[in-house]
Amino acid sequence: MGKMVLLTGGAGYIGSHTCLELLNAGFDVVVADNYSNSSPEALRRVRALTCRNFPVYEIDVSCRAALEEIFKKHEIGAVIHFAGLKAVGESMEKPLAYYRNNLDSTLSLLECMKAQGVNKLVFSSSATVYADSEVEKKTEDLPTGCINPYGWTKYMIEQILRDVAAVEPDWSVALLRYFNPVGAHESGCIGEDPSGIPNNLMPRVLQNARGLLPVLGVFGDDYPTHDGTCVRDYIHVVDLAKGHVAALEYLKKHRGCEAINLGTGVGYSVLDILNSFERANGVSLNYEIQGRRPGDAAACYADPGKAAALLGWKAEKSLDDMCRDAWRWQCYNPEGYASGIEAWYKAQDTESEEKDLEEK
Ligand code: WQD
Repeated sequence: MGKMVLLTGGAGYIGSHTCLELLNAGFDVVVADNYSNSSPEALRRVRALTCRNFPVYEIDVSCRAALEEIFKKHEIGAVIHFAGLKAVGESMEKPLAYYRNNLDSTLSLLECMKAQGVNKLVFSSSATVYADSEVEKKTEDLPTGCINPYGWTKYMIEQILRDVAAVEPDWSVALLRYFNPVGAHESGCIGEDPSGIPNNLMPRVLQNARGLLPVLGVFGDDYPTHDGTCVRDYIHVVDLAKGHVAALEYLKKHRGCEAINLGTGVGYSVLDILNSFERANGVSLNYEIQGRRPGDAAACYADPGKAAALLGWKAEKSLDDMCRDAWRWQCYNPEGYASGIEAWYKAQDTESEEKDLEEK
């Protein structure tokens, strides 16, 4: 049996989808998560979908002793570090909590990896590390700089990892800069389950479609873009997850530290998203144009060339796939993972009964 891949934050939105893709690709995984913004139910469903079992530890990654136990118990060959606080607005209210949590957990993870001789790491970074500039299509060599503590934690961790890789010639590190992950696994069984009031566009679209958010604000229509609304690079979470599998394969053969964009390379506006969502799902949204949200750049999308060249990876799913899969997850699990698997079964039953009726 080969060495295992440790996923910190493996129960989260991107972590759980990556866990599933790794298992399907034949990797053995072990998950560490404190469930601060995730649910053990996500991992139960990953087990069900893959028919594979794997160890899960409810620990805080900043607790070095707990981490060490995992490294001693299992032969870890590589780590994917997803764990971290990730809400931009909250990070502005609680900067200390963000710096303490995101930096502490990374430092104890790195110390532990060094002590145990584990030298392959994939880090969940973000396109948010790119400094605001006229250049909309982001290449990895563009200047970096952030505007909120959440972003700065990603920026700082990238720097820490570059510094470590510079003095540890055996280390292989991939800094994966995610653009805007959306969608869910096509089974409708796992997806994004934000706690509290969501801030990102797609979770708010879902709430609006369900009537929980009566009016969806479109933040500004006077940007210099094709329809005046902001342009982003939305990427299906399953494509993103597959990018991690490709990154692990790359790290097996290459040393050093590389920043790599994970995006589609195509920018869509807020109105493009709303129109696709309505068309793909046959539902109507209730939205209105509102003022700009402070801090938003007009347009930002990936140059995915480096990911294609180094990882042999590119995003494959369409915007319609993203909209359909997000809505399916939401319909099958109205309360997210708290709905329980029964809700998912029930939705499946209703769907097949409807199909039977259509066929008759
Ligand atoms: C997308 C577009 C909004 C909500 C942020 C973080 C980034 C990363 C992902 C993750 C923007 C518009 C949104 C709404 C709207 N963080 N919008 N009405 O800002 O590109 O990136 O999330 O962990 O670090 O900065 O994503 O989804 O918030 O917004 O019009 O109700 O949708 O103005 O143009 P963003 P987003």
